[in-house]
Amino acid sequence: MTSRETPNSRHTPVKAGILGWPVKHSRSPLIHDYWLKMYGIEGSYEKLPATAEDFEKIVRGLVDAGYAGANVTAPHKEAAFALADLADARTAQLKAANLLVFKDGAIHASNTDGYGFLQSLGGGPDDAGFNKNWDKNWSAHPVALLGAGGASRAIIGALVEAGVPELRISNRTLEKIDTLRFLCEGTPTNISAVAWDDRAAMLEGCGLLVNTTSLGMSGQPALDISLDHLPDFAAVVDIVYAPLQTPLLRAAALKGLRAVDGLGMLLHQAVPSFAAWFGVKPEVTPELRQLIVTNLEGKG
Ligand code: ATR
Repeated sequence: MTSRETPNSRHTPVKAGILGWPVKHSRSPLIHDYWLKMYGIEGSYEKLPATAEDFEKIVRGLVDAGYAGANVTAPHKEAAFALADLADARTAQLKAANLLVFKDGAIHASNTDGYGFLQSLGGGPDDAGFNKNWDKNWSAHPVALLGAGGASRAIIGALVEAGVPELRISNRTLEKIDTLRFLCEGTPTNISAVAWDDRAAMLEGCGLLVNTTSLGMSGQPALDISLDHLPDFAAVVDIVYAPLQTPLLRAAALKGLRAVDGLGMLLHQAVPSFAAWFGVKPEVTPELRQLIVTNLEGKG
């Protein structure tokens, strides 16, 4: 293939995959295989195990082998951005990419995590717990966010994009919140840093609570927080999807609040990737969600 040809211009199956280490447990192949079948597209999506040491070599190898691109998961999102020739503005700000598209010999980087997060709040078929009091106009209210690690960044970017006026962030290590302030600079979103001990009180008046800490994940302690201060129109999001029902989401549902699990974000972040490589914007269907739920439950 010459550098002017794109994989799509050839009449051979389009190839893509997911780079990570470990990548064994990734559900992304299930998602993309479902869509390839649904739209009758000849293509493939494979697990591409890559250590940090081999990452660049493997990516260049995929370009040479005519792949359309790849998704990137931990621990390579920063390396993927650094390697790319081009990136959109949001990705350049985050300095982390989960989508690579190979076009005309160049590597394009994007970050679709924030898109996936916003779409998962939409109240679509993958909605984990619709509640009639939920205010669809949640972005007009302050948002409370727990955690200041890598996973918080794309979400903060998305919240800024949604026009949230005030972002209250609480993290065990308070100083880390300062490293996130740049994401709101020059925007109408104000960040306030809240001490970890004051996390319950910061929920007053918030339209949304998002947990981006690792608390509540399988094998981790539960997140300990009282939801008493959250208004009844608020939604609670846990970006974790293993387990699907975290103690936080159970507590939210018990209070009658809208509870959104992390599977919606996983499914929706895959949409722009599929569209970029295979040329069809795919639909996140209830059947797809159920397929992944069954797999997460160990039955798939
Ligand atoms: P990720 O990239 O998934 O965000 P990370 O960068 O390791 O992972 O961040 C994990 C987040 O969970 C951090 O906000 C971390 O708080 P610290 O910054 O204080 O480390 C938070 N976290 C992990 N264990 C925690 C615990 N036991 N109590 C409170 N917060 C915790």
